[in-house]
Amino acid sequence: MENTEQLQKELTAEIVAASDMKALEDLRVAILGKKGRITEMMKGLGAMPAEERKEAGKTLNILKVEVEKALEARKQFLEVQELNAKLAAEKIDVTLPVRPENQGRIHPVSKIYEEVTAIFGEMGFSVAEGPDIEDQFHNFNALNMPANHPARQMQDTFYIPNPDSADKDDSFVVRTHTSPVQIRTMEKQQPPIRIIAPGRTYRSDYDATHTPMFHQVEGLVIGKDITMAHLKGCLYDFVKAFFELDEIPVRYRPSFFPFTEPSAEMDIGCLKTKTELKIGAGTDWLEILGCGMVHPNVLRAGGIDPDVYQGFAFGVGLDRLAMLKYGIPDLRTFFESDIRWLKHYGFVPLDISSMTGGLSNNGGAAR
Ligand code: PHE
Repeated sequence: MENTEQLQKELTAEIVAASDMKALEDLRVAILGKKGRITEMMKGLGAMPAEERKEAGKTLNILKVEVEKALEARKQFLEVQELNAKLAAEKIDVTLPVRPENQGRIHPVSKIYEEVTAIFGEMGFSVAEGPDIEDQFHNFNALNMPANHPARQMQDTFYIPNPDSADKDDSFVVRTHTSPVQIRTMEKQQPPIRIIAPGRTYRSDYDATHTPMFHQVEGLVIGKDITMAHLKGCLYDFVKAFFELDEIPVRYRPSFFPFTEPSAEMDIGCLKTKTELKIGAGTDWLEILGCGMVHPNVLRAGGIDPDVYQGFAFGVGLDRLAMLKYGIPDLRTFFESDIRWLKHYGFVPLDISSMTGGLSNNGGAAR
């Protein structure tokens, strides 16, 4: 039999010299493949006398293991080398200035978010936040929706299992509305309260006007003598500022929400034709938000005495506002990340919305 020590040196040298994965694979086949060098030597064992065979078999096995180790080590080395080369080739310098012809755009939802915050900011509201993943207490119970309340079914909730409890009532939810932020705010702060809470909300629904993730802004005002008149004045000022109109017809229809009493939906006047929707004129009505006086049970759940304080709340769909204001027909397109869509409906960065400097500026980058 060949001198295996010598052979091992030779093979190892060849392996270490393999410059890429292809060469290494060829080498592996030439050594360990069906007709490979070591394979052939192994086959030769059968023809040897028994004692010699035992010794030679052992030596060959050691050789084989060593060669396999060398192959694996080289493979790992080459893999790292290839990855590094790839990373180096794909490197981009993020500090380079933006090319004017290749400018990014602000998403319409971000724009609406800014506009709404600017309007309510001017009215003295501050911005509150809460988590996207909520417990059922904040999303439902504290909002006057105890377990098995039919309103829970209305909301097509996504539930998330609680790893610490198999009880269905302990499972988490992705919040179905921004109203839990009402409770979280009351828990932290005694009145007077004047907040808006914009953010993501989730319901199992999908068509041209519903997506499983959407955006809402919640409003909450609590004081000793806050009335429905304040609610109406506040929301009237909001829609005028938002649609950038001096006058706009509005009406309130009685409605139901478990967390407000009385509850209403606010409509704005518009003109609907086959091809157009004009806001602020005409004889048609468009529903834009839900609102009402905060239910005493909700104040109580938030640790506020309903015999001393009262307030109003409202909830608006931000995506729907964006669709209305900027004439975007299908909500699903908002979340498809199509760069052509964003170029068309997006906004130029740095055109910051403000009540004094203009809310929507030129009304869209592409126009
Ligand atoms: N949370 C309600 C919804 O998602 C909206 C709302 C908020 C209604 C606050 C009244 C008061 O539909």
